[in-house]
Amino acid sequence: MPKQILLTGLRPTSSLHVGNYFGALKPLIEYQKQYKTYLMVADIHALTTLEDTKDIRENTLKIVMLYLACGVDPRKVTLFVQSLVPEQIALATLFSMIVPKSMLELNPVYKEMLAENPKATNLGLLAYPVLQAADILSYKASVVPVGRDQLPHLELTREIARRFNARFGLSRRAKSGEMFPEPQSKITQDLKILSLQDPTKKMSKSHGENTNISLLDTPDQILKKIKTAVTDSGKDIIFDPQNKPGLSNLMFLMHLASGESIKTIEARFAGRGYGEFKEAVANSLTILLEPIQARYFEIAKNKKAIEKLLIDGSKAAQKVAQKTLAEAKKNIGLF
Ligand code: ADP
Ligand code: TRP
Repeated sequence: MPKQILLTGLRPTSSLHVGNYFGALKPLIEYQKQYKTYLMVADIHALTTLEDTKDIRENTLKIVMLYLACGVDPRKVTLFVQSLVPEQIALATLFSMIVPKSMLELNPVYKEMLAENPKATNLGLLAYPVLQAADILSYKASVVPVGRDQLPHLELTREIARRFNARFGLSRRAKSGEMFPEPQSKITQDLKILSLQDPTKKMSKSHGENTNISLLDTPDQILKKIKTAVTDSGKDIIFDPQNKPGLSNLMFLMHLASGESIKTIEARFAGRGYGEFKEAVANSLTILLEPIQARYFEIAKNKKAIEKLLIDGSKAAQKVAQKTLAEAKKNIGLF
């Protein structure tokens, strides 16, 4: 049986944090063994909210180098850049003819992104899911790992596939009735790391420096951020996400970083203070990140090689996207 196709993407808007690592990167290291995997840097999508684009190339390289440092194997994964595959943008234009504008205006992700980026009144932000559908369907991917907040975009992708199949899939020119498979989302472990400063929110790059641990933070920066992380006024180190969300988040981070069970952590810190516990959390994160950072700085010595990897990956991706675009055009009846 041929391997199922998996595609995921992320915007190069800043560096990655430990929430991204546990929620998206680590699962991908497993998926690459199982699926034919495409990993795309969504630089065109980043333009929807970026006010300043001067760092976009650098951030693209940085994110790719972090993925490699975390264990993405370029022999197994096609790593590519969205803007180097303009066929996806052409497919998005074809899709835009079958997507009602109202469906995009009702998209809850659009409303949230606009609230977070009030200056982003551009058409690109409204049309974001149309391009995302083209990203996915260009490769006929059936598995798409995303965070829970992206589920509405996956639903829109399925809707676009259904509409295209219904309108053009059965035309005389179409080889089969189903040009596009309806992709399934894959919520990666459904785990949520919380913000260090506001444990009612998830850890995110958009909530400020001290709210997240970047994969490239130094041991001192990690210690400082964990020390200033919001906990509660109690003394006991017990896992109680309801009443002690900040402390429980730190315990969860320590569990993920060290592999120690929550029970063991509770037993180890029974009767000890928050200060000592926080130092141990910072230490476990430092131990996790040290080898990743070492590999990152090794890889970063040869950025030219990374650029070449991305160009080669994009050429390979483009071949597939070209074929899909030609098929879609043919089904519609275009030259
Ligand atoms: P951010 O919120 O920092 O902008 P993204 O939305 O770009 O992060 O998320 C990229 C990927 O990382 C998604 O697959 C998402 O599930 C995962 N991710 C992001 N933040 C977290 C978090 N706090 N906990 C778990 N996974 C996360
Ligand atoms: N919108 C996704 C995010 O913000 C990034 C993305 C762009 C994506 N194209 C994609 C994810 C295709 C999965 C598949 O996280």
